[in-house]
Parts: sequence; structure tokens; C-alpha cells
Amino acid sequence: MDLAHGLPRDKGLLRFITCGSVDDGKSTLIGRLLYDSKALLQDQLAAVEQDSRRWGTQGQAIDFALLVDGLAAEREQGITIDVAYRYFATERRKFIVADTPGHEQYTRNMVTGASSADVAVILVDARKGVLEQTRRHGFLVHLIGIRQVVLAVNKMDLVGHEQGVFAHIDADYRAFAARLGPAQVTSIPLSALSGANIVGKSAAMPWYTGPALLPFLEACEVDETRLRRQPLRLPVQWVNRPSLDFRGYCGQLASGVLEAGQPVRILPSGRQTRVARIVDIDGDRPRAQAGESVTFTLEDEVDLSRGDLVCAIDSPAEVADQFECTLVWMADEPMLPGRPYLVKIGTRTLGATVTEPKYKLNVNTLEHLAAKQLDLNEIGVCNLALDRAVPFDAYADNRATGGFIVIDRMTNNTVGAGMLHFALRRAHNIHPQHLDVDRAARSAIKGQEPVLLWFTGLSGAGKSTIANLVEKKLLAQGRHSYLLDGDNVRHGLNKDLGFSAADRVENIRRVAEVARLMVDAGLIVLTAFISPFRAERRMARALLPQGRFIEVHVDTPLSVAEARDVKGLYAKARRGELKNFTGIDSPYEPPEAPELRVDTSTMSVEEAAGQVLALLRARGSIG
Ligand code: ADX
Repeated sequence: MDLAHGLPRDKGLLRFITCGSVDDGKSTLIGRLLYDSKALLQDQLAAVEQDSRRWGTQGQAIDFALLVDGLAAEREQGITIDVAYRYFATERRKFIVADTPGHEQYTRNMVTGASSADVAVILVDARKGVLEQTRRHGFLVHLIGIRQVVLAVNKMDLVGHEQGVFAHIDADYRAFAARLGPAQVTSIPLSALSGANIVGKSAAMPWYTGPALLPFLEACEVDETRLRRQPLRLPVQWVNRPSLDFRGYCGQLASGVLEAGQPVRILPSGRQTRVARIVDIDGDRPRAQAGESVTFTLEDEVDLSRGDLVCAIDSPAEVADQFECTLVWMADEPMLPGRPYLVKIGTRTLGATVTEPKYKLNVNTLEHLAAKQLDLNEIGVCNLALDRAVPFDAYADNRATGGFIVIDRMTNNTVGAGMLHFALRRAHNIHPQHLDVDRAARSAIKGQEPVLLWFTGLSGAGKSTIANLVEKKLLAQGRHSYLLDGDNVRHGLNKDLGFSAADRVENIRRVAEVARLMVDAGLIVLTAFISPFRAERRMARALLPQGRFIEVHVDTPLSVAEARDVKGLYAKARRGELKNFTGIDSPYEPPEAPELRVDTSTMSVEEAAGQVLALLRARGSIG
């Protein structure tokens, strides 16, 4: 059957991704498509390129706005993403092909390239058959949500155009694909080099009755067509208020159709209203559909802001702040459970933490493996907690409202991409309980303003010694205090934790939560932990009310701390007998703006403690 037969002349734009290595003939195949289509329609190219530039960014935004935004930011920062987009056209359709190289950053490249693709063309060398790499590509393509796969069995000329070879590879791949879930797989025997079954059917393989590659790509359904049939989802990108009597909202339809007069529900507020007008450069229009960018106004005086989601009234998105998700890690630095990250979902950016993975996936065997963290290119299933509730859909239903990227708070780099599965009900069933006796009441009877004195610095810097003296002096003045010390807490509450980066993050998270409770109890709390990472110190600061977190950097140089070596640990670390020792083979990130900096190599412990108390007095914590 020739799928291209009898098609309308213009079926719009198709985005596809090619997966395979150079050896599979990927470059030759892309070259062949470009060459043959160019020969077909030289004159259309300029127009397509112009169009694609527009679509290239907007089109991606439909499917994975966040990912592309994040990656665009990365591009600005000069980090290379090795995905090349190429444009070509035939009489029937325009195409954008994402060419992703298959080296060690393949996961990241593929997620980038495939995030907006309608179809994936997975290349197999007919001589080699389905390889581990083929399965990996198939898995990722499925994960990203591409449900149309072309298995391009290349180099058929090198296996004598044998039907048996093709049939074997086809069956092999289908057996694997069946385990991934529903998808449409079309296997095509071809030769990128000779052009067999690329543009037209090859006489060398009369046994093959399916379509050639290009006619297939010309005929297959694009995601936008499917998205138009789904319920309306329109994330507000910005508010357009050129004059007092016009309040328009701008955004790109992620799915569905928007019509003037249509009733809609706004999330997360849940308010209902109607669309008044839809306008674009040419004036008012009655409707707009998935993929289009519009400005619209509402009938009621509802105040929308960036990140709000306009939904079909009868099938709105869900709203939640905790989810199960699949997470693809893209950074050299591992994903650490409990570390505060930023997550961009839709047009919103929120604070987020990820739990320890429930499992990570062996992409080749689909096995579930135990994992404490996720490293570069690894894929795991985790829980995600956001600091606010957001409207969302399961990624399987809508790539735009169910996909997200993870951003490192310090570097602003995109470090992961993920897909939401479902909301965790836990969040719905636990509500904060109002208590009548509060921090103010508890601190009033103690006659003090509770604060958290957070001592940070290298092992042996003098944190515990100074904190200990400060507490003694506070006690002498009749103050109520508590000192949480690393070495002690690690014998009890945190005895299950070691010194990996992940364990240190969890160590500090727990200590910060406990310290918060103690401040709430009205105490002056002192903590003495190395707390080597800025991200977690910042998290601790954010847990406390404004002004109640006092960071004290015990800034004793490494050479001095090491020379003291009270516990003999530096010597051990230098001998290689103690791994991950802070300052030796594990980093210490000094505070950038601590409330106080003391250095015990230039001042006595007495002096340092005196400075801390002076600061407490100056802040009115103690009289
Ligand atoms: S933190 O990095 O997670 O904040 P914490 O302050 O709790 O560390 O514990 C540090 C103490 O544990 C050090 O003072 C030292 O006595 C001991 N220790 C044992 N192994 C290590 C290590 N690899 N790195 C740093 N400290 C270690």
C-alpha cells in the first residue's frame, strides 16, 4: 500500500528524530533525505527555513516548553548541546529532523531532540541487527512519548536484499517494543547509500509491500492533530495590558481548541469564566487550536498571571504539589535526594526536592535496580515535592503539561528532565494543624528571641569548641539553648548516614528540620556541622522565619585545621584510608555572605565566642 497516494498536498510540518550511530548510516540517511527532497523542491527551501525558524522554537514549546526554555538558557551560557536541527520539504510536507549523536551524552541529546518529535526513525545496520543501542534508543523514544517509530533497517544492499534478514530484525525489535507499551512500529528495509526505499519503492526488494521512508513520513499523523482532539490546555505566558480597558493574556495552546464564548476553568484557582475575544495580529478570530499562539480576553474581571492554566471546563487538569515521576538525569553532578532544586513546569518555576529513587532503570534490559542517587544519563522513578501546588496532567496524556525540567539553583544549568506520572494523595490528606501555643508564647516565658546559630566550617576548624563556649555563656545568663553537634547527632538521629554527598545532604536536611522545631520551641539553637554545601545551608535558612538564621563561618584555613588534626582523621584521609574527607577529596563550599566570620587561627576561642554573643545582643535576641 502506498500511504502517500491520494494525500492532500499540504499536511503541515512533521518533526522527527533519527537515532543511531554514524556506523549505522545515520548521516548518509539524513543526507539522502535532504538531497532527494532538495532535488524535488529546491525552490521551497527558503520558505521552509524561514517557517521552521518560527516553528523550531514555537513548535518545541508545545511539546516540552520547559525543556526547550531551559535548554535555550543553557545555549546562552555557551554549553553545547549536540542536537542539530535540519529542515527540508517535499510537495506534501515540511520537515524538521533532529539529528542526535550517540556518544556518552546520548540520553541528554535524545531527550532534547525527541522532546518535540512526532516520529522517531531508529536505524539498524542490517548486518548487525538489533543491538543494545537499538533497545536503548527504543526505550528513550518511548519514555519521551513518541508513539510512532520507524525501524529503518539500513544497508540492505550489503545483505543481498534478503527478506529473511529483514524479517528477523523486524520480529526481534517488535518483541522488545511490545514490552515497552503501545506504539506503532513500521519497519522499512532500505539502503541510505543507494537510495533504495527512501523516496520510492526499490525494485531490488519486491517482497517488501510497505511504504518507502519519505512517503511514510509524508503521510503519518503529526502530534498536533492528535493534540487538537484533547481537552483545552492553555498556559498563560504573559499578561498583555497595553491600555486600562484591555487586559489580554498570551500563551500557546498546548492542546485542544479555544473558541470565543467558550466556558473555561482557570487553574490552580479553580475559577470559571468565559473566553471573550481571541485576537492575533490580523484582528479578532473565532477560534484557535493546539500549537497556535494567541492573545485572549476573558468575560469576567479574573486576574490571571503567568503560570495559570486555562482548561476545558468539563475536563480540567489536576492540581497537586507531590508527584511520582520519571527523572532523566543530564548533569555530571549526580541528582541528590533532598537537595533543593528548581523545577520548571509549564510556564512556572518552583522550588523542589526529589526523594531517593524508588528504582533506576537498566535501559537495555528494562530491569529495575536499587539506587541512592542518579548519575549522568541515568533514568529513575522518584517522588517529586514542589513548594507550591501546580496544575498538571500525566505526561502520558499531555507532554506540555506533564513534562518538566530540573534546574540547579547555583549554576542555573538544566540538570534533568522528567515526566509526571500521578499526584501523591499523601499531600491531600495531611493538613497543617493550628496550635494555640506558638513560638511567640513559648519564647515570651523564656524572655528571649529564639534564633538558630548555624556554625559551618572544616572538620577541626573549631565549630564545636566555639559553639560549646557560646552555650556555656548563654546558660550562665539564664538563657534556654540547645547545641546540636555533628559528632553527637551522627550517633543517634543520623546514625544511618555516612559521608557521601547524598548522605551529607540528608544529614543537614534532618538537622535543619530539628533545629526549626527547637527554634519554634523558643530555644536559642546552635548547630555545629561541617555542612559543606551551599545548597543545603540555603535550605536551612529558608526553613526559618526571616532573620532567625545566623550563619557563622568558622573560617579556619585547611592548613591550620589539618595541623591540629585532633582526631587524626586528616592523616588518615591523606593516607587514603578515609574517603570523601572534607577539604581533602570532598569539597567545602564557603559561605558567600555569612552573618559572621571568625577565624580561630587569628583569634582565641574566647574572642570568637564573644563576637557571636555580641551579634546576638545587637540583634536583640538576648538582652
Ligand atoms: S557534614 O558534612 O555532614 O556536615 P558532620 O558535621 O555531620 O559532617 O560530621 C563531621 C564529623 O564527622 C567530622 O568532624 C569528623 O569528626 C567526622 N568525619 C568522619 N568521616 C568524615 C569525612 N569523610 N568527612 C568529614 N568528616 C568526617
